[in-house]
Amino acid sequence: MNNHPRPEPTLVLGGTGKTGRRVVERLTARGLPVRIGSRSGVPRFDWDDRSTWDPVLEGVGAAYVSHYWDAIPGAAETLGSFAELAVERGVPRLILLSGRGEEEAERGERAVRDAGAELTVLRSTWFAQNFSEDYWQEYVQGDEVALPAGDTPEPFVDADDIADVAVAALTDDRHIGQVYELTGPRLLTFAEAVLEISRAVGREIRYVPISIEDFAAAAAEQGVPGEVVEGLASLFGEVLDGRNARPADGVQRALGREPRDFSEYARDAAATGIWHPRAVRAA
Ligand SMILES: NC(=O)c1ccc[n+]([C@@H]2O[C@H](COP(=O)([O-])OP(=O)(O)OC[C@H]3O[C@@H](n4cnc5c(N)ncnc54)[C@H](OP(=O)(O)O)[C@@H]3O)[C@@H](O)[C@H]2O)c1
Repeated sequence: MNNHPRPEPTLVLGGTGKTGRRVVERLTARGLPVRIGSRSGVPRFDWDDRSTWDPVLEGVGAAYVSHYWDAIPGAAETLGSFAELAVERGVPRLILLSGRGEEEAERGERAVRDAGAELTVLRSTWFAQNFSEDYWQEYVQGDEVALPAGDTPEPFVDADDIADVAVAALTDDRHIGQVYELTGPRLLTFAEAVLEISRAVGREIRYVPISIEDFAAAAAEQGVPGEVVEGLASLFGEVLDGRNARPADGVQRALGREPRDFSEYARDAAATGIWHPRAVRAA
């Protein structure tokens, strides 16, 4: 029998983020104990402070590993060091969230594998939830989504699917050694994705393709820190060159079902009211 949920808590790094909190919800719903690893967790976990790593690994059975940004220089080494410590502390079973088509993220995968982890990689493309649970949400609320994404099609993946695969991997050893490329079922340009959202909310919302330079300048003006602007700009340039413009079969292989379609995501997110226009501030 491969399917044997562990009695020990599962550590969910990034457990308050877009995928991590969904993993926490699912494990908790199954009555499985969970420890959230983030700067707001107890004990506190900070990727940038190694003194916080040991305490979160204490007594844990397996871990979902989501770095706050696996594409920043040095993240691969950090992931490798964390994985080495986890293996040393008797927690070899790691499920790693990674980025599809990202060189730095793939370096991170290798570093975790080289540490001797019993690894499952969730190599994910852009999340649909970036439009509703990250800074693109404000663009949708403001009726104009201006991004340097051109007209390259992208098979946006639903974070609910990523969490379903993560929980399957955390509770069933048959997923050890697998690399799952996680995407949605179909390609959409950013213009098409925004049109789906526009239809779901019943309001005109436009996608405006801009240059990477204009994107970086606008982000810097809004006070986004320089290294974040740089990272985002290079990410758009790197992964939206067409390399990811094909759906993959990771969700089907891991779960035996089709991934959720973007239209379902847009309908459900719209129903929560998350895209209501921003209140106009009184002068
Ligand atoms: N978004 C996408 O489309 C996408 C696609 C593919 C891959 N990825 C990769 O997935 C990973 C997560 O991205 P996301 O967009 O899901 O992130 P997210 O929703 O913003 O969540 C980030 C999580 O990391 C925690 N965190 C932030 N800084 C931390 C620190 N210094 N130490 C410990 N925890 C910290 C946050 O919690 P606290 O604030 O409580 O610490 C939060 O739980 C990244 O590596 C990203 O590159 C993202």
